[in-house]
Amino acid sequence: MSVSTPSPTSLTITRPDDWHVHLRDGDMLGMTVPATARTFHRAVVMPNLVPPVTNVELAAQYRQRIMSALPSDMTFDPRMALYLTQDTTAETVMAAAQDETVIGFKLYPAGATTNSAAGVRSVEGMAATLEVMQEHGVPLLVHGEVTEPEIDIFDREKVFIDRYLVPITEQFPRLKVVLEHITTKDAADFVAAAHDQVAATITPQHILMNRNDLLVGGVYVHNYCLPVLKRRTHQEALQKAATSGSPKFFLGTDSAPHVREKKETACGCAGCFSAFTAIELYAQAFAELDALDKLEGFASHFGADFYDLPRNTDTITLQKYTWNAPELVHHGDQSWVPYWAGRELMWQQQTL
Ligand code: NCD
Ligand code: ZN
Repeated sequence: MSVSTPSPTSLTITRPDDWHVHLRDGDMLGMTVPATARTFHRAVVMPNLVPPVTNVELAAQYRQRIMSALPSDMTFDPRMALYLTQDTTAETVMAAAQDETVIGFKLYPAGATTNSAAGVRSVEGMAATLEVMQEHGVPLLVHGEVTEPEIDIFDREKVFIDRYLVPITEQFPRLKVVLEHITTKDAADFVAAAHDQVAATITPQHILMNRNDLLVGGVYVHNYCLPVLKRRTHQEALQKAATSGSPKFFLGTDSAPHVREKKETACGCAGCFSAFTAIELYAQAFAELDALDKLEGFASHFGADFYDLPRNTDTITLQKYTWNAPELVHHGDQSWVPYWAGRELMWQQQTL
């Protein structure tokens, strides 16, 4: 007779942090800020606004707008990423180093993704700036894709790693580098093999889906994000990395809202809006991989450890409970189709 252990029906973990999120600006903050603060204590807020958040002064003003949108019964500690440009000065880097609400600089190759036009045109030309960042302990957060039209979109992450990240991590061994939203086995292998100042965030969609979910049976615009979903073998490598217990891989949702009209159109914007169900999506993926015991490290410990920040001291509880992700969310007179819209979820964060 075999004795089976009942599967858990509730899971309490240290409160997680989201190390990569797009909160946008203006009225939308009234929707995005509570959605993220529901689960996460800290969040790394991406700077790809128009105009971009390029220095500590702009970041302080943006952070203030975010905090003004926080409901009075919630706590939240946004950490701002500054937008790296070809013209970022040493003074700007040093000011960032002094400001504890600033987490580091985000490198967007110009033209790689939403609002990246002001990004870096020559990565090689950034060496002097990276040197100052290393010297002052300021992390580099990277959107790792090349943009040359002749490079296939499915190869852009790997080419970026080979061409730029291998040299950067060798040349600057003390520079903290986070390869954001990794999508390939190549990226997971690179990060695992690199020195211990190199880490990666992983989104829910890249663990839960592969490019079939984007393209088989029609084009599923709400599963379209950048870097684009890859083939199943890459998805499996990311699942393995996320559930490996390695402190180099941690949670970053890349929740990136675009209004419905800008997704459901001939040239739909890139971005999956996952904030409303983020921790539940990760729980679902980890449960399916029989790795719920690895969720807390990934979601709540490793990112804080990497950034030399204290781990959160309070907890959240997830209940095993079947429900459906919202089909549509509204704010003001606009609506958004969230990632996983209408689909079943097996876990739900308990609200007090
Ligand atoms: C992000 C956005 O919409 O700002 N989109 C996305 O597909 N991930 C930008 C980004 O992180 O690349
Ligand atoms: Zn992003």
